[in-house]
Amino acid sequence: MLEFLHGIIEGFMPSVLVCFNPACRAKYAVTEVIYNCPRCGGLLEATKPELTQTPAQLKKLWRERRMNNTPIDQSGVWRYREFINFLDSESHIVTLREGNTPLLVSPKAARYAGLDHVVFKHQGFNPTGSFKDNGMTCGVSQAMRLKMQRVACVSTGNTSASMAAYASAAGLDPIIFIPNGNISYGKLAQALEYGAKTFQVDANFDQILALVRTLAEKLGIYLLNSINPFRIEGQKTIMVELMDQRDWKVPDWVVLPGGNLGNVSAFGKALREMLELGFIDKLPRLAVIQAADSAPFYTFMQDGGKGEFHSVTKPETLATAIKIGDPISWPKALLEVTTTGGVVESVTEQEIADAKAQIGAAGIGCEPASAATLAGIKKLITAGVMKQDADVVAVLTGNVLKDPDYIYKYHTGALDSPHGKRLLSTYGNRPIIVPNDPDRIAALLN
Ligand code: F0G
Repeated sequence: MLEFLHGIIEGFMPSVLVCFNPACRAKYAVTEVIYNCPRCGGLLEATKPELTQTPAQLKKLWRERRMNNTPIDQSGVWRYREFINFLDSESHIVTLREGNTPLLVSPKAARYAGLDHVVFKHQGFNPTGSFKDNGMTCGVSQAMRLKMQRVACVSTGNTSASMAAYASAAGLDPIIFIPNGNISYGKLAQALEYGAKTFQVDANFDQILALVRTLAEKLGIYLLNSINPFRIEGQKTIMVELMDQRDWKVPDWVVLPGGNLGNVSAFGKALREMLELGFIDKLPRLAVIQAADSAPFYTFMQDGGKGEFHSVTKPETLATAIKIGDPISWPKALLEVTTTGGVVESVTEQEIADAKAQIGAAGIGCEPASAATLAGIKKLITAGVMKQDADVVAVLTGNVLKDPDYIYKYHTGALDSPHGKRLLSTYGNRPIIVPNDPDRIAALLN
């Protein structure tokens, strides 16, 4: 599955790392092992790609690459490599053929939310079942380039599953840290199966991130949380692939769940760069949806992000993927939501659970955090922010099998909110226990 490829990347104009803080903007080589600006502590980002071909030429080339059998052209990330040009050689690339995720439509889900039409970009079709693979292929490739042996992350589950797979595929040692008892078994199982050294820590995501950063520095381990700017570069391709699949027709809205806010940072950066470089002619509005009791960014954006950012000390939600109270990338997310004229919404546990059942009943399915998108759309339609005939793409971030426990409890009326309140099984689909008796079963089917 893993292929090491050789050759210098064609038309390579290397990115550099630049401090995201507008008052600093210090620059560093992409080969420096840093996660924050050494001068001011700001977040880092890779500079915009400098292209040697026109957008029209690249659009054609990227389309043609879909026909190739080479691993990097089959990857829905590396196919767009001119847009994420931080590597100096293809020999570092570690790919599991990530990306290539479908656009799925569901009139039923659209009706539920009050839309004429909705499109789901389903990142759950990735090799480890979430959008993290788009970023992880880049993060682990950079680890190879830097000759790191050990890589680490803290995770609500999907980052760790993804990192474990890519690191093990590359022959690196994955070390993961997860909040004890607060990730779904599907995700924990993946990390164990993919061979990660796994620490379950009695602390929440935000506390463990601080711990892991200290350990990474002390022990020379490469950190692969979304603070890593190369992961953000990879996640940009979700938007590039989306536009490519839509023949470069920009939707009115792109809706996504928000946790640590890495993904909205990546989407916004990609969209701005595509606009500046002439690939698209306008920006879609970004709508970020948070779970009500893990919604510091929603609260912050209530006055347009002008006040102070306050983290939530005890974040709660059954959508454990987005159970984060102190999102590291909020300054980037603020820029991206503002630039696109976007909005931030929050949704309740019941709204997430019911929206998820609707996505499931449409034959699509997703994990709880992903369903926050449809729940958020429904709310934005009701509030008149989003129009019924809007062209909306909702990004489903994770696969339905990530959290089977949640599903079973919802459908059997046994799902309790983090505050102990029993949620309604509004669209419940209980299994029926029957004796081995054809007449009795036939009677039930009449
Ligand atoms: N959806 C899913 C399924 C996720 O796993 C995550 C984040 C998000 C949405 C939110 O994305 O953090 O970029 O705003 N999961 C991380 C993890 C935190 O550790 O797997 P974000």
